[in-house]
Amino acid sequence: MSRNCLAWQVGAALLTALCSMSLATAQPVVPEDEQVKVARSIAVELGGKLKSELSTALAAGGPVQALAVCKTAAPTIAAELAAASGGKVGRTALRVRNPSNAADAFERAVLMRFVEDAANGADAAALEHSEVVQSEGRRTMRYMKAIPMQAAPCAACHGSEVSPEVLQAVRTLYPADEAVGFKPGDIRGAFTIELPLP
Ligand code: HEC
Repeated sequence: MSRNCLAWQVGAALLTALCSMSLATAQPVVPEDEQVKVARSIAVELGGKLKSELSTALAAGGPVQALAVCKTAAPTIAAELAAASGGKVGRTALRVRNPSNAADAFERAVLMRFVEDAANGADAAALEHSEVVQSEGRRTMRYMKAIPMQAAPCAACHGSEVSPEVLQAVRTLYPADEAVGFKPGDIRGAFTIELPLP
C-alpha cells in the first residue's frame, strides 16, 4: 500500500469517527422551534420591507401620497412572504386601519397581553408570542411580534395630531379607520404569522 493511500485511509477513518461523534451529540431538530425561527425572520423581513417602502414614499411625496403606497404595498409584501413560506403573514391590531387586518380571537388575546406587559414596563419592541394550535384539522405554529408606535414617521398617519389633509385622505381610503390617536410607546399592533407544522 502506498503512503498516500494509507494517509487517505487514516484520514477517512478519522472523519467517520468525528462525524459519528458530532451526530451523537447533536441536538435533535424540533420542528416547532424551527418554525418559530422562520416566523421571527419573516417578521423581520416584513418589517424591513415595509419600512423601506414607507420611507421612500414619504420622501417622494409626503404622507398623503405615502398612504396610497401603503394601501397597495403592505398587503402585497405580506402576500409575497406568505406564498414563499406556505403560511399566513400579515399585521393586525386592536384598532385597525384596514378592516382586513382585524384581529381574530387568538390575536386579540395576545395583543391584549402585549398591551398589559408594556403597561407593566416590558420593552414593547421585544414582546413576542408563539404557540402551537390546531387549525382546520392541522397543527399550526402561530407567532406574533409587537409593533411599537414611534413618533417618527408613524405619528403623521397614526398619531393624535394627524394633519387635516392626511386625515381626509385616510377617511377616503379607509372609511372605517380606527388607527389614529396612538402615542409613542403604545402597542400599535403586531406582525402575525401562521406556519404549518408536520
Ligand atoms: C403614510 C402614512 C403611514 C405612516 C407614516 C405609517 N402608516 Fe401604518 N398604516 C398606514 C396605512 C395606509 C395602513 C393600512 C395598510 C393596509 O391597507 O393594509 C397602515 C397599517 C398599519 C398597521 C396594520 C394594522 C392596521 O391598522 O390596519 C400597523 C401595525 C401599522 N400601520 C403600524 C405603523 C407603524 C408602527 C408606523 C411607523 C413606523 C406606521 N404604521 C407608519 C399608513 C401609515
